[in-house]
Amino acid sequence: MPNHIKLPKEIEEFLEQSSNIDENFEHLYTSGGYIESDELIQKTIITLYMGKNILLKGPTGSGKTKLAESLTAYFQKPMHSINCSIDLDAESLLGFKTIENKEGQTEIHFVEGPVVQAMKNGHTLYIDEINMARPETLPILNGVLDYRKTITNPFTNEVIKAHKDFRVIAAINEGYVGTTPLNEALKNRFIIFQVGYLSGDKLKQVIKSQTALKNENTINYMVKLADELIKETKKGKVSEEAASTRALLDACDLAVYLTPLTAIEHAIAEKLEDEREKSFVLNLAETYFKD
Ligand SMILES: Nc1ncnc2c1ncn2[C@@H]1O[C@H](COP(=O)(O)OP(=O)(O)OP(=O)(O)O)[C@@H](O)[C@H]1O
Ligand SMILES: [Mg+2]
Repeated sequence: MPNHIKLPKEIEEFLEQSSNIDENFEHLYTSGGYIESDELIQKTIITLYMGKNILLKGPTGSGKTKLAESLTAYFQKPMHSINCSIDLDAESLLGFKTIENKEGQTEIHFVEGPVVQAMKNGHTLYIDEINMARPETLPILNGVLDYRKTITNPFTNEVIKAHKDFRVIAAINEGYVGTTPLNEALKNRFIIFQVGYLSGDKLKQVIKSQTALKNENTINYMVKLADELIKETKKGKVSEEAASTRALLDACDLAVYLTPLTAIEHAIAEKLEDEREKSFVLNLAETYFKD
């Protein structure tokens, strides 16, 4: 937990209680590392502590998954992930039946899916790209996401009541191809936080901790470029993803061995569909870097 995060005493004490690692789910533990702006960590921790579901909204590469992983790590719980798509169905959420052969006898066995596992064990459920699911798939979770915290598994008829530590974090990119507006009743079950691209010193901190780039000058100019791109995206001059933190971190890594301009061309500019936007990014980069 970063030192500067101010939390009410009881929440701090709650998070400090050491909990045993559940060896069956060792591979699902995550680590921290999200660098915040707008006291986002404090607000989201309080929300989760209160047992509410969180919905993170923000553009691609803005750190939604990183934030979900960091929050889960602060609560010291494994994180079960669901990646939504039009193929997502009740079985991918809840699990499926299999037939097993035991000593000549066939037995029907239910393999629990991520929702059931997270509910029973009091873990965190991360539902990524929740607006990529077909609108009729997710209402099955309505009872899981409201005060009931319960589901009747349609495959086994088992009534599952969530463990008290069960938490849900979801994420969406709004307006992207393949997304549908979130159903109101589903949205209503979440507390919503906007996640934006980092800029300035915080971005510098992320570059230093997550990329191989060490050249202080190059780092400073990369941050300036990102700050400028964020301004321009707000004015509508370039698409939002031009300022993506993920793309910038990729550019910083490439800039260890390639020229910064080449790195920016391939990690940032080439991702934009519009030729004018591409040129705009490259021209801007040329004001900071020479080939
Ligand atoms: N605030 C931040 N603190 C630390 N790392 C960050 C932050 N923002 C972005 N990153 C880094 O940028 C990259 C992209 O972040 P992440 O994958 O969490 O984005 P996302 O919002 O989930 O994107 P998508 O919508 O495409 O899934 C990761 O390498 C992540 O570590
Ligand atoms: Mg993500």
